[in-house]
Amino acid sequence: MVFDLTEEQRMIQDTAREFARKEVLPKAAELDENSRFPEELIRQMAELGFMGIAVPEEYGGAGMDNVCYAIAMEEISRACASTGVIMSVNNSLACDPVLKFGSEEIKREYLVPMASGKTLGCFGLTEPGAGSDAGSQKTTAVRDGDFYVINGTKNFITNAPQADTCVLFTMTDKSKSHKGITAFVVDMKWKGISLGKHEKKMGIKASATSSIVFEEVRVPAKNRLGNEGDGFKVAMNTLDGGRIGIAAQAIGIARASFEDALSYSKDRKQFGQAICEFQAIQWMLADIATEIDAARLLTWRAAWMKDRKMRHSKESSMAKLYASETAMRAAVKGVQIHGGYGYINEYPAERHFRDAKITEIYEGTSEIQRLVIAAALLKG
Ligand code: CAA
Repeated sequence: MVFDLTEEQRMIQDTAREFARKEVLPKAAELDENSRFPEELIRQMAELGFMGIAVPEEYGGAGMDNVCYAIAMEEISRACASTGVIMSVNNSLACDPVLKFGSEEIKREYLVPMASGKTLGCFGLTEPGAGSDAGSQKTTAVRDGDFYVINGTKNFITNAPQADTCVLFTMTDKSKSHKGITAFVVDMKWKGISLGKHEKKMGIKASATSSIVFEEVRVPAKNRLGNEGDGFKVAMNTLDGGRIGIAAQAIGIARASFEDALSYSKDRKQFGQAICEFQAIQWMLADIATEIDAARLLTWRAAWMKDRKMRHSKESSMAKLYASETAMRAAVKGVQIHGGYGYINEYPAERHFRDAKITEIYEGTSEIQRLVIAAALLKG
């Protein structure tokens, strides 16, 4: 067993860490305060190849592996969790399914610009009535010659307000339940597509989230990803990869909580000594550091398996479950170590606390991750 990173993995870690420290971290508080989409950072990240890390170079990506992707996601999210999720959605939820299930023509048309960061992608699965129960899609796609006509509403869509492209899930045959779901790539400028409610969120405020309304939208049949009825598997397979991205985001948030708390505990003096001298604080720090390492090992294992094209649904869910709950525990302890200063926005501990929560919810709640893990265990 080798724990060393490859030269390429070390290189992206150094590049992402340096970029995050110099460019992202100084802006994180302002982005959060103003719920401002970090357009300039996304442009810089595109130049660095971060918007399509595991996409082959011939399709506009950086041609690296998924471990590189997890490493870069952690570094960016350590500085700003909002910037992290924008990157994660583009990489795992938009580029990956087009790479895997799109025709050559569709890859040239949509993947090349997305992976090179010229356009931004979003993932239209969730609906007002279809969250954890992703199979209960109500958005319909009705075949009309060489087109499908799409009607419906998607909500809580990360990146929607800025997105140029949407990987969209629809019902083409209601009688077949999840086997009647079909996926498409859709240009967000097409007639009949409009943005709905722009959500005001607890955290990851610099990433934009809104609903998307589809009214009589004509989508060419060539924009279908896979065959009619393949959509649910496209979605689940995509989320197997997406959960690696969110796990890495959660590790980044946990690290931010930990590193800030460690540094504060060395400076803050009470009862005549730095508070890091107290065992109560040391135990909290030791627990967080241990959990972060464990979460990272789970995440890199899932990414390693994805690189080897091994089925990694259970491993991705384990990584996402453990990393997101680690982020939440680390954020709670981070605020606690800061005491009253953790509760005000002069310090970033409260932002980490607000940002951490979503990692236990999106791309499948912790309860859904436990279902996926248990189903795999029972199947043997
Ligand atoms: N890969 C390939 N196929 C899969 C699969 C996978 N990972 N998981 C399931 N399938 C297949 C099954 O084999 C089964 O196939 P057959 O019908 O041929 O036997 C089929 O899909 C149905 O599987 P299930 O019976 O397990 O399906 P289910 O209806 O019970 O749902 C679920 C399973 C795990 C609960 C799933 O609905 C799920 O993951 N829900 C959570 C949805 C989610 O994560 N949403 C996130 C939205 S995106 C987002 O959050 C983005 C963002 O903002 C950042």
